[in-house]
Amino acid sequence: MKLSARRILANVIGTALFLGAMGPAGAGDGPKPSAGVERGRYLVTIGGCNDCHTAGYLEQGGTTPESQWLTGSPIGYQGPWGTTYASNLRLVAGRMTESEWVAHARKERLPPMPWFNVKVMSDTDLKAVYAFIRSLGQAGAPAPAYVAPGGKVATPYYVFVPQSDQKQAAR
Ligand code: HEC
Repeated sequence: MKLSARRILANVIGTALFLGAMGPAGAGDGPKPSAGVERGRYLVTIGGCNDCHTAGYLEQGGTTPESQWLTGSPIGYQGPWGTTYASNLRLVAGRMTESEWVAHARKERLPPMPWFNVKVMSDTDLKAVYAFIRSLGQAGAPAPAYVAPGGKVATPYYVFVPQSDQKQAAR
């Protein structure tokens, strides 16, 4: 009698621990929602998306809080292509379905966007990036609009033109 009561108690505790370890995702019927989000966070981090799409991320050694990630940059990138701005991906992904995002992310872009790298990412990875960005929610303002070469630029910008120091070269 005593023994079986103990066994029942052990089973109850065991079940509770098992359910606890499964977390809220275990209760749902679809795939674990957090798996894609985690993978997306990893891909965004190692893929360097924040380097341009998060204001100050590069300069501050990647310490920008995640709440500000991918909200775009108000500083332009100027070169022979004109002046481009790294978009607010939170707003861009926020207005798209998953399949729209996958197609959109693979389109050709102006420099310095490494679209040719993003283009070869697998569907699964691009979907994970989407899941992560969507998990952050929409925030911030749209980045300034593209300015054609020679046009008036109203913001600070980085100039992407190779420089050579004449004095140093003459030494
Ligand atoms: C070196 C800077 C840089 C890096 C790194 C970078 N981007 Fe961009 N990205 C840009 C710029 C600048 C634009 C705007 C290009 C244009 O106007 O054609 C852009 C545009 C985009 C767009 C189009 C958004 C829109 O406005 O519709 C997407 C999607 C995008 N980037 C995704 C990514 C992802 C995902 C990563 C990481 C894997 C990434 N970018 C890394 C600079 C960068």
